[in-house]
Amino acid sequence: MKFGHFDDEHREYVIETPKTPLPWINYLGSKEFFSLISNTCGGYTFYKDAKLLRLTRYRYNDVPMDINGKYFYIKDGDCVWNPGWKPTQTELDEYECRHGIGYSKFKGVKKGVRAEVLTFVPVNDNCEVSKLVVTNDSSEEKNISIFSYVEWCLWNADDDSRNFQRNFSTGEVEVKGSAIYHKTEYRERRNHYAVYSVNAPIAAFDTARDSFLGLYHYAGDPEAVMNGKLTNSMASGWSPIAAHQLDVTLKPGESKSYVFVLAYIENPVEDKWESHNVINKKPAEALLSKYDTDAKVDAAFAELNAQWDKLLNIYTVDSSNDKVNRMVNIWNQYQCMVTFNMSRSASYYESGIGRGMGFRDSCQDLLGFVHLIPDRARERIIDIASTQFEDGRAYHQYQPLTKKGNSDIGSGFGDDPLWLIAGTSAYIRETGDATILDEMVPFDNDMSVAQPLMEHLRRSFGYVDTHRGPHNLPLIGRADWNDCLNLNCHSTQPGESFQTFGPSEGPVAESVFIGGMFVKYGNEYADLCDLKGLNEEAAKVRASVEEMNKILLDSNAGWDGEWFVRAYDSYGNKVGSKDCEEGKIYIEPQGFCVLAGVGKETGEAEKALDSVKKHLDTKYGVMILQPAYTVYHEELGEVSSYPPGYKENAGIFCHNNPWVSIAETVIGRGDRAFEVYKKTCPAYTEEISEIHRTEPYIYCQMVAGADAKFHGEGKNSWLTGTAAWTFVNISQYILGVYPTLKGLSVDPCVPADFGDFNVKRVYRGVEYDITVKQNGVQKGVKELIVDGAKVEGTVIPYDASKKTVKVEVVMG
Ligand code: GLC
Ligand code: GLC
Repeated sequence: MKFGHFDDEHREYVIETPKTPLPWINYLGSKEFFSLISNTCGGYTFYKDAKLLRLTRYRYNDVPMDINGKYFYIKDGDCVWNPGWKPTQTELDEYECRHGIGYSKFKGVKKGVRAEVLTFVPVNDNCEVSKLVVTNDSSEEKNISIFSYVEWCLWNADDDSRNFQRNFSTGEVEVKGSAIYHKTEYRERRNHYAVYSVNAPIAAFDTARDSFLGLYHYAGDPEAVMNGKLTNSMASGWSPIAAHQLDVTLKPGESKSYVFVLAYIENPVEDKWESHNVINKKPAEALLSKYDTDAKVDAAFAELNAQWDKLLNIYTVDSSNDKVNRMVNIWNQYQCMVTFNMSRSASYYESGIGRGMGFRDSCQDLLGFVHLIPDRARERIIDIASTQFEDGRAYHQYQPLTKKGNSDIGSGFGDDPLWLIAGTSAYIRETGDATILDEMVPFDNDMSVAQPLMEHLRRSFGYVDTHRGPHNLPLIGRADWNDCLNLNCHSTQPGESFQTFGPSEGPVAESVFIGGMFVKYGNEYADLCDLKGLNEEAAKVRASVEEMNKILLDSNAGWDGEWFVRAYDSYGNKVGSKDCEEGKIYIEPQGFCVLAGVGKETGEAEKALDSVKKHLDTKYGVMILQPAYTVYHEELGEVSSYPPGYKENAGIFCHNNPWVSIAETVIGRGDRAFEVYKKTCPAYTEEISEIHRTEPYIYCQMVAGADAKFHGEGKNSWLTGTAAWTFVNISQYILGVYPTLKGLSVDPCVPADFGDFNVKRVYRGVEYDITVKQNGVQKGVKELIVDGAKVEGTVIPYDASKKTVKVEVVMG
């Protein structure tokens, strides 16, 4: 069952009912000012950091679901309603929400009045603009009142939700004309305030929540709105808000339009005040004047769309499969940009006050957005590498505002160092810019011990190479990619962190998965050595990789007979083996070892993937492990803490499904690669939205596995490495347009009935127009013709002097 439909021409998902199974959200903003916005106008806004500089309040996990947003109320006689249905939940005669690329549109119709809202964050300003158009579709004159409402957050969202003894006394506001200013803590150490304004004279306002809502009321029945008259309240402590009232007369057929702007303003310390305790509003007024007419707003909206046109032109596909076109050309890339902006900080499931930027998460996210914004990817790589330690280990997380490593969680995740190679290699393969390797980058943010980035990569590789366990496999440390495989933790008390409790790192527990990474990224590191002319080092690295390859295939180490072992625990026992009672097979080493090419020539690769299909497959995706853990295993950690079928305990953890799909392309099975791709692909799961429940236009982190009561139900949408990896999978492996150090390679692996297709790719300043004649073949390039001339192999030689290149690929 669907709750809406895709409008590909406008790059929108059109939601047809406000009663979606979960709030279906969108993200606004692309640089420093961001909003989350749901299909019922819920959500919140922040500047740069969702924890420290939050403008509006949101109540997570409250009832009714999705509490607080930026609301407009319309009072038409006794009837009060919202264009987005919430919070009054007055039944609408018509409702529509269109989530687009960096904007959302709402339409509500009630009793002959139509209200349309367009909301977006302009490309270059720190504000959110909402254009509200009300139209009288009836045959009688209408006298209505429009009310706006936002509730301010007292900046630090963490403190705001806990420290009530202080916070109920600090709130301060100012009002000037139609502009309501939120200036809590501005008198002391803050040099910033927020403003909410409308480009028309107002009939009244409120800035105190209790006056607006009324005691013991809520946003669903605000007393002042119900009474038809705001009270001009001035907040003093408690909870400051901003609400405007506009009294509007509409003749039959008449429309009126209003622009509301919510903005963040910073003043220089020496220029904070206009007069004693009166804030300097000049920069706010200058900003508001940029959006005070419809024409200005329309121009800013066009600029936003033009920016996205440009970004989304970098990789486009035209195939006979609409769903693939839709995901590749629009939604998958869009989600990659959102993960670039948000990492894992603010979603409807990440509260914005918890995790900073993850070292491994950010490196993997890079793989999905490097082609879109190479300059910012470069900056991101340097930021990430700056948190690395001198010995090659890394802080597991860092704070986006300070860019410093987070010492609460510290280091010790065995996989982290290698992801830095993955991200850097992707950047150089995309841009050809090897100068990044010479960039001086600090260790642990200490510039006095800075070394070129190449040295950071060397230490990344070296750390894993020199930290091995009894089977000569890499030590796992606190955990590897699977945060919940805490083999050194042994926690027995509730509340202890599985990842950091106890010794957490040890000399015995090993990871086969990191072994697979070592092969994949060791090879990529060796290629970078060659690029730098370090051929001796490259040879040494390749020798280590070759040795690891053997260890992975050794049945006394990495190979279990029918699949790869997952790990060895701190007692030296196998994890993810036929010898285990529960958790006999895990997905990660099957996907990663095979995509790294391990066992490709000798048959283990195919065996491992067949075992995945046999033991882990479901119609909703491939599960992370089987059989699920039914009891808590102290020696394994958090993985066994989840009820069977959820999260890392036998859930379908979408992030690693593309690893399996990519692995299938490595052994040339296009049918199966695509089958795996489809299972978690939003354009396909749209049809089962009542089961899947999360947004049908983007990926979620986890889908409940076969052991779970709600098998097929998605959770934790938006901020997941799934976005990057599925884009890598479909664009580089299935459609097969893969950036190498020497140029673009085209080597598709598609289902036999996929048909011919065309990819347009802007790469290092050259536009490639690539046509693939598929001939019913799953993998194999018979002919590569570049501008009319036959070329050997699959790589299009890079020639910077050309602006456009025509490529024909004949499979066979
Ligand atoms: C979460 C984390 C990621 C981890 C994964 C598996 O998505 O953000 O770092 O790899 O879970 O545990
Ligand atoms: C929990 C989650 C895992 C996530 C981690 C982040 O372990 O199960 O998915 O990566 O928290 O800290």
